[in-house]
Amino acid sequence: ALPLIIDCDPGVDDAIALLLALASPEFNLLGITTVAGNVPLALTEKNARKICQLAGRTEIGVYAGCPRPLMRPLVTAEHVHGSTGLEGADLPEPTLPLRSQHAVNFLIEQLTQAQQPITVAALGPLTNIAVALIQQPQILVNLKELVIMGGAVTQGNVTPSAEFNFYVDPHAAKVVFESGAKLTLISLDVTHQALTTPERLAEIRAIACPVCQAAADLLTYYGVADALNHGLPGAPLHDPCVIAYLLNADLFTGQAAAVAIETQSQLTLGRSVVDFLPGVAQAANATVLQTIDAARFYQLLTDRLSTYR
Ligand code: BDR
Ligand code: CA
Repeated sequence: ALPLIIDCDPGVDDAIALLLALASPEFNLLGITTVAGNVPLALTEKNARKICQLAGRTEIGVYAGCPRPLMRPLVTAEHVHGSTGLEGADLPEPTLPLRSQHAVNFLIEQLTQAQQPITVAALGPLTNIAVALIQQPQILVNLKELVIMGGAVTQGNVTPSAEFNFYVDPHAAKVVFESGAKLTLISLDVTHQALTTPERLAEIRAIACPVCQAAADLLTYYGVADALNHGLPGAPLHDPCVIAYLLNADLFTGQAAAVAIETQSQLTLGRSVVDFLPGVAQAANATVLQTIDAARFYQLLTDRLSTYR
């Protein structure tokens, strides 16, 4: 199984990504680290524990990380995920404890002691990952691949230029893209192809199990807010695309590119500038995905959620 750490800010789509990963025997999930993003840190770590509990996986370690971005005040997204971050489903208080180790120290410890290279899925602002890379650059040696949901090649979702995760902590994103890590980027241009249409939601709702009902409840709320905000026929299921990519990269196409992050401009703060014609001056530093087979993606998600029956 693929050794994996998921860094996230649940968040409804993060929660669905966690449920997909927890239902997939292809992964050896070493732990979940959380960061401030969609909601403050106290909620993201609790929400991660609620999801592990819902999945019946109380042995999973959840670690809280950075409570705010490197340089900027925290910007949250309650209008998309609700005030709890998991609006729509009434999940019980988790009995699974928060681990006492800081997420950054957990990442460094795992990546330093690893017998096998570790893959990291980054589903929120990149604060924890950037701090880990600054604190201990040696972790690159054992970092197999960092698969990031973030950025926009075309239209952003917080501003015309910027996507939420990179807008919240553009400086962290800059550190990560300049780190030399093997990066795969799944931007809004991909995730806006993965829409939770009413038909797809109905298929999840039709699976007779409490986990699937909770997932459907979450996606019903999230569907309304995000689709309306962006004028789409369904809500983009951003973060689960990262897990789907790790399960089956054939669902995606992509291309090597040079990615740089804007940190200075007021107008375009957090913009991911993607050069698909990298040259000598700007060498490629990431694989930027471009398309997803949305029908097969939703089939994969629905199949895996059914295993909670
Ligand atoms: C990203 O922002 C968050 O609201 C979602 O969880 C996702 O990670 C999409 O822009
Ligand atoms: Ca997220």
